[in-house]
Amino acid sequence: MITKPKGTYDVLPPESLKWEKLETTVRKVCKLYNYKEIRTPIFESSEVFHRDVNDTSDMVTKETYDFKDRSERGITLRPEGTAGVARAYVENKLYVDNSVTKLFYMGPMFRYERPQKGRNRQFNQFGVEALGSDNPLLDAEVISLGASLIRALGLKDVSVKINTLGDEESRNKYREVLVSHFTKYKDCLCEDCLNRLEKNPLRILDCKVDHDKDFFKTAPKINEYLNDASKERFNTVLEALDNQGLKYVIDDNLVRGLDYYSDTVFELVVNIPEFGAQNVIGGGGRYNKLISQLGGPETPGVGMAFGVERLIMAADYAGKNLQPKEQIHAYFIALGKKAEMACLKAINVCRIGGLSCEMDYKEGSLKSQFKKADSNNALFTLILGDNELNEGKINIKDNTTDSQETINIEEVYNYILTKVTAQNPCGSCNK
Ligand code: HAM
Repeated sequence: MITKPKGTYDVLPPESLKWEKLETTVRKVCKLYNYKEIRTPIFESSEVFHRDVNDTSDMVTKETYDFKDRSERGITLRPEGTAGVARAYVENKLYVDNSVTKLFYMGPMFRYERPQKGRNRQFNQFGVEALGSDNPLLDAEVISLGASLIRALGLKDVSVKINTLGDEESRNKYREVLVSHFTKYKDCLCEDCLNRLEKNPLRILDCKVDHDKDFFKTAPKINEYLNDASKERFNTVLEALDNQGLKYVIDDNLVRGLDYYSDTVFELVVNIPEFGAQNVIGGGGRYNKLISQLGGPETPGVGMAFGVERLIMAADYAGKNLQPKEQIHAYFIALGKKAEMACLKAINVCRIGGLSCEMDYKEGSLKSQFKKADSNNALFTLILGDNELNEGKINIKDNTTDSQETINIEEVYNYILTKVTAQNPCGSCNK
């Protein structure tokens, strides 16, 4: 038997209904905030992600799926959405209309990570990116959108952790003091942190190996090194969150795992002990250099992404049922070949008119076909035998009331539609 690759999974029905529900909710929330959908390729030229030789993030240095295609082009499966969206923004010159471009996306991402609950090699993200303005209110808008999604999904115990990495001047000053602090403990640093010490010392604060050691706790904090502009900017983000009644916790060790961030960074963390380290359901921040790194004009950006699997797990945990009961309008039971053809004709009329129908292509026994009508949650079961067929009639059972009658086969569509519309005035929808 050929099995799925390590770190991947199949989403089977009815679980897939949760995904549908989540996607519908995402779209509704994005509409409220006026974010438009963008779809970018699942693979990109490797330079989109491997932009900077000094990048120290695990994602870029250790986790990308890189390969050469048959023409020896360097290709990378996207490990995240932001860089691909930035590439598309530059390539399609979305900056020309001089307004803020607000985009959202959903889809699979790929990271060669050690798989465990809530951490996969192929996983899905829902993300938003707002490009073209450095206004701190936009940082708060992105967080507010995340909070709205969490509310709409009915998740519980989610907190927002927020920090600022300051502007370039502040970060340079902070970088110097961090280097001199951690250099004193060079012998105690893990291999990754030694590398970060040279290339991006801020990311040492993100180390999962050493973070409990004393010299981490005594490390200088960014807020002591922010210049006035960075302080003011961060305070405005916080004021905008307060203004919307959004709760947050300032975490001065939060630096995020990717190298492109500046100023605001944040994470949404769910307090579920079973989730362990996978309790970060989403995160994001500001990235004002990414667009120019990809060859575009200097353009500020801010965004956020959620792990879809983690959102679904958190909804399950909160007892929020994202899985609506699926129903069909009609299940047809045909007794014999001629009856099958006649049912097919009626089914076609119903489906064209927007009614969902099913019949048993396996031609099972009457009993097993009734069972299938049941397991499909059919609103009506229709039975067509030779006698009815000769008279142009069909038996129809209303499964809600258990009542049964015989009607003309040509009337099936109108009969069901009238009943369904009476029960559900929004039309042929059966949800
Ligand atoms: P990230 O923190 O790397 O940020 O990923 C965002 C979310 O994706 C995480 O919080 C987590 O829920 C989910 N995630 C990441 N890796 C995995 C995995 N291996 N398995 C399951 N879920 C995972 C970004 O990707 C940035 N692009 C976010 C962003 C958008 N920043 C600005 N704009």
